[in-house]
Amino acid sequence: MHVLIVVAHHDPRSLTHGLALHVAEGLCQAGPGNSYEIADLSAQGFDPRFTAADHGLYHGQMPTPADVAAEQARIDRADALVLVFPVYWWSMPALLKGWIDRVFAKGWAFDFSADYALVKKLGRLPVHLLGVAGADQDTYERHGYAAAMKTQIDHGIFDFCGAPVLTSELVLESETQDPTAHLRAAHTLGRHLFSAAHEPAATA
Ligand SMILES: Cc1cc2nc3c(=O)[nH]c(=O)nc-3n(C[C@H](O)[C@H](O)[C@H](O)COP(=O)(O)O)c2cc1C
Repeated sequence: MHVLIVVAHHDPRSLTHGLALHVAEGLCQAGPGNSYEIADLSAQGFDPRFTAADHGLYHGQMPTPADVAAEQARIDRADALVLVFPVYWWSMPALLKGWIDRVFAKGWAFDFSADYALVKKLGRLPVHLLGVAGADQDTYERHGYAAAMKTQIDHGIFDFCGAPVLTSELVLESETQDPTAHLRAAHTLGRHLFSAAHEPAATA
C-alpha cells in the first residue's frame, strides 16, 4: 500500500516533521510492500495562493494548473492520505489550507452543476489527520475548538468530497510535554493505517 504524507511545516527539525517520519516508519514496519511519499509543502515551495487560473478551473474555463495537477497525481497514486500539521489559530496553517483550496478542485475532488447535485469524487481515499497543538485538552473542550475543527476539516472538507476520515487526532501540549509518547503514537498510527483496529493514540 502506498501513502501520501503531507507535511505543512517550514522546519524539518520540528515535532510536526518528526511525527510524519514516525508515521512513515510505522507504515514500513507494518508491511515490506508498503511505501510512502512525503509532500513537504514548504520545502517544495508549494504556492498556496488561489489564483485566476484556479478560478478559471473552478468555472470550467481553464485547464488544471501544472502544480495542482502534480499534487492531484500524487494523491491519485496513494491508497491513503495523511495530513500532519501544526494547529494555527484553531485550524490548519494557511499553507495547508491553500493546498486544499487549490488541489481539491471542482471536477476532481467534487462536482456539481445546475443540472445535478453534489458528486463526491474521493470516496476511494481514506484520510488520517494529525494536528499538533500547543494548548491542552481542557482548552479544546471548554471553547469547543476540537468540535469546531472536526466540523470544518473532517466534515466540511473531506466528507464534502466523500473521503472517509478514518482517524483524526490532536497531539496536545506539544510545546510543554515530552514528545516521546506522541512520537510513539504516530508510529502506531503508521503501523495501523491499513488495519481495521486502530489503537487509540496517547493524545486526544
Ligand atoms: C501562528 C501560530 C498559531 C498558533 N495557534 C495555535 C492554536 O490556535 N491552538 C493551539 O493549540 N496551538 C497553537 N499554536 C501552537 C502550535 O500549534 C505549536 O507551537 C506547534 O504545534 C508545535 O509544533 P512544532 O514543534 O512542530 O512547531 C500556534 C502557533 C503559532 C506559531
